[in-house]
Amino acid sequence: MKIAIIGGGPAGLYAAILLRKQRPQADITVYERNRTDDTFGFGVVFSDATLDNFEKYDQPSYRRITQEFAYWDDIAVHFRGTVHRVGGNGFCGCSRRTLLMILQERARELGVILRFETDIEDEARLADADLIILADGINSRFREKHSDHFQTEIDLRSNKFAWMGSTRPLDAFTFIFQETEWGPFIAHAYQYEAGRSTWIFETDPNTFEKAGLEGLDEKHSADRMAEIFGWFLDGHPLLTNRSTWRNFPMIRNKRWVKDKMVLLGDAKASAHFSIGSGTKLAMEDAIALADAMQSAPTVATALKQYEEGRREEVEKTQHAADVSLVWFEHVDRFWDFDPVQFAFGVMTRSKAITYDNLTLRAPDFVAKVDQAFARHVRDSGFDVDVEKPATPMFQPFRLREMKVPNRAVVSPMCMYSARDGLPGDFHLVHYGSRAIGGAGLIFTEMTCVGPDARITPGCAGLWNDAQEAAWRRIVDFVHANSAAKFALQIGHAGRKGATKLMWDGMDRPLEEGGWDVISASPIPYFPDSRVPREMDRAAMDAVKAAFVAAAERGERCGFDMLELHCAHGYLLASFISPLTNNRSDEYGGSLQGRLRFPLEVFEALRAVWPAHKPMSVRISATDWAEGGITGDDAVVIARSFAEAGVDLVDVSAGQTVREAQPIYGRMFQTPFSDQVRNEARVATMCVGNITTSDQVNTILAGGRADLVALGRPHLVDPFFTMKAAAWYGADGMFCPQQYLPGKDQIFRNSVRDRQDFEDLKIKAKPKTRAELKEEASKPLAAE
Ligand SMILES: Cc1cc2nc3c(=O)[nH]c(=O)nc-3n(C[C@H](O)[C@H](O)[C@H](O)COP(=O)(O)OP(=O)(O)OC[C@H]3O[C@@H](n4cnc5c(N)ncnc54)[C@H](O)[C@@H]3O)c2cc1C
Ligand SMILES: Cc1cc2nc3c(=O)[nH]c(=O)nc-3n(C[C@H](O)[C@H](O)[C@H](O)COP(=O)(O)O)c2cc1C
Repeated sequence: MKIAIIGGGPAGLYAAILLRKQRPQADITVYERNRTDDTFGFGVVFSDATLDNFEKYDQPSYRRITQEFAYWDDIAVHFRGTVHRVGGNGFCGCSRRTLLMILQERARELGVILRFETDIEDEARLADADLIILADGINSRFREKHSDHFQTEIDLRSNKFAWMGSTRPLDAFTFIFQETEWGPFIAHAYQYEAGRSTWIFETDPNTFEKAGLEGLDEKHSADRMAEIFGWFLDGHPLLTNRSTWRNFPMIRNKRWVKDKMVLLGDAKASAHFSIGSGTKLAMEDAIALADAMQSAPTVATALKQYEEGRREEVEKTQHAADVSLVWFEHVDRFWDFDPVQFAFGVMTRSKAITYDNLTLRAPDFVAKVDQAFARHVRDSGFDVDVEKPATPMFQPFRLREMKVPNRAVVSPMCMYSARDGLPGDFHLVHYGSRAIGGAGLIFTEMTCVGPDARITPGCAGLWNDAQEAAWRRIVDFVHANSAAKFALQIGHAGRKGATKLMWDGMDRPLEEGGWDVISASPIPYFPDSRVPREMDRAAMDAVKAAFVAAAERGERCGFDMLELHCAHGYLLASFISPLTNNRSDEYGGSLQGRLRFPLEVFEALRAVWPAHKPMSVRISATDWAEGGITGDDAVVIARSFAEAGVDLVDVSAGQTVREAQPIYGRMFQTPFSDQVRNEARVATMCVGNITTSDQVNTILAGGRADLVALGRPHLVDPFFTMKAAAWYGADGMFCPQQYLPGKDQIFRNSVRDRQDFEDLKIKAKPKTRAELKEEASKPLAAE
């Protein structure tokens, strides 16, 4: 077999090594346009897990690589004169040049042919190869040439970065966040061999321009960085090697294979340097390709297998990298955070590290995070313990005069079980048990302001006296038997009205017994949905009056809070999104115009809703669709409602148009809450695939939301919050006296369960290489 590899970087060389090991007879050639030791960059970084993989696949190169490595365990975050260190991270650094030398040597040893100073211009030259591996890096010529086939997407990110080196020794992966007269600069730095460290500098485009870096040559821009970070460099110089400033390209390809050609490494997919995974991804691609070549009967099936088997892992890493790079791009959002909370945000930015995970690894650090959180709570008027505080989830929160005992919320969820809008026994049990279960705040399902405002015939309403009495009964029960506060969500279905119950066909039009629907514009949801009537001013007045009447009834029921539903494509949302509003009057056009009617309704409600009670608005912070609402719009929307007196923005997403393409994942909507909270400076509640109390604490401690709502988890577990309270030992949870023995038991048992769990976790955790190295260097204890 003949294999041609274009590119002698980590991907190409490691693929050559692994394939040659499998096929000692194969003719494998690596073509590299540079000279043998002509490499850019300084250090590369691998996690312990990646090294374990290398150990499995090629012992000799693994051994040589690990002999050369610098190990460290800690991540250090420098911010506003403070430094926070977190251990247990298990990373290693090595010089990129040394890594390539080791791989070249090993490849030669195995009989791979290495052709340096050979720039491949056209793959036709390699026509006789059975397999052509395109490992030609981030600017891959061959990916570009066939970009229509590979369906390449290149997202050039806004921040500027430059890769430099230094002789400054470092004992931790070091992030330095540096305020300057021009704006914030960030250094990502780590040592990769004795006396050598990598320094990646990053800043936003405005700061870059103001700092006069545009057009500066390598030396002068290194001098500027040395001025900024001089206090830390401690007299050590900054070194350059093709250290020009550039914008990071996030590269994705919908296809990785063309005939007998396959993309590997950066050519195929890039991952932002802030998660240190570029070289790791490149070498693990080589492993995946070698595995596929081992097991598949033909090259074609191997390539298919490689692409199918590897894609998910690569996309997961890229997603983590995306989330991380966005955090760094928006670092100014967090600049006024307490430094320890800021450091917690750095650590947990890409979801891989969580509150519980850090509690195991760095309990003192998390204790400080908790204390800082508790101090804010105390400053907002609560008498909470700041020395030994409860976890963030169990800290109280205030909105106007409403105090919620903890931060867990039952998200609004339609039960589709009302008759003529009348909530019944099901609702009493449903809301009653969730309130007793311990959540600090529970929301009603979308409660419709009129019979024609309903989504389905099963939706609850609040437009007549019978409904008012039924809701009052439920509110009274909740208040009498729990500490939960109760929020009423009111809404109008708009064009998504007159549809079937969820279990009969979500959003599908009723075949019988439907009613006329209205919307901002006459655009049906499905092609076969009812075409909504475009609302005129009279319809707007009628809808506004219906909302006001429902709010007045809600106040008489005794609800503690009122939420206006402006999300998910329902009536008010249909005004806000440009995808559902094509009006030419003052209620359409710009975002300001599209917000006019929802704001008018909100203001009318605020006028009748008691001043001491809070109001929230639920928004879809993105439509997940081309041309629709984006996170930036959500900031403007939130600000506009905040100016009108909203106390909390309930940040949901999507459900505006059928063709939306949400990016699902754990806590997938939380970045929007983060953006709205920290840019619009308004309190937020986040929601969406949040399933554990660990995630709740991670979100709250990182300052990404003030309250955390859980929908589906509460459907199957009304006692989610009570159980979490027991787990975290959060004293002071209200429990009705009938259930106290159960509460006592779970709180007692949880102390032991938690201890067992932590012991197991600590035992199960393999020692990091840094820990092993430290152990090995200690003198043996005297007998
Ligand atoms: C300026 C810069 C500095 C970097 N520094 C670091 C760092 O310090 N640490 C780190 O972890 N990561 C660094 N990276 C990222 C890291 O290099 C990549 O993620 C990783 O090297 C990807 O490996 P690869 O084999 O896919 O690509 P590369 O390492 O880029 O290798 C591709 C190779 O293909 C060769 N090539 C390209 N076209 C042709 C052709 N037509 N014919 C023959 N040869 C060709 C190139 O010369 C290159 O050697 C850096 C990236 C850049 C752009
Ligand atoms: C059955 C069901 C009904 C829902 N009804 C409503 C509703 O009435 N009002 C609303 O704003 N959101 C509603 N939602 C959305 C939820 O409040 C929540 O945003 C969504 O389920 C995502 O959170 P989760 O992943 O915790 O479930 C509903 C969701 C479900 C699953």
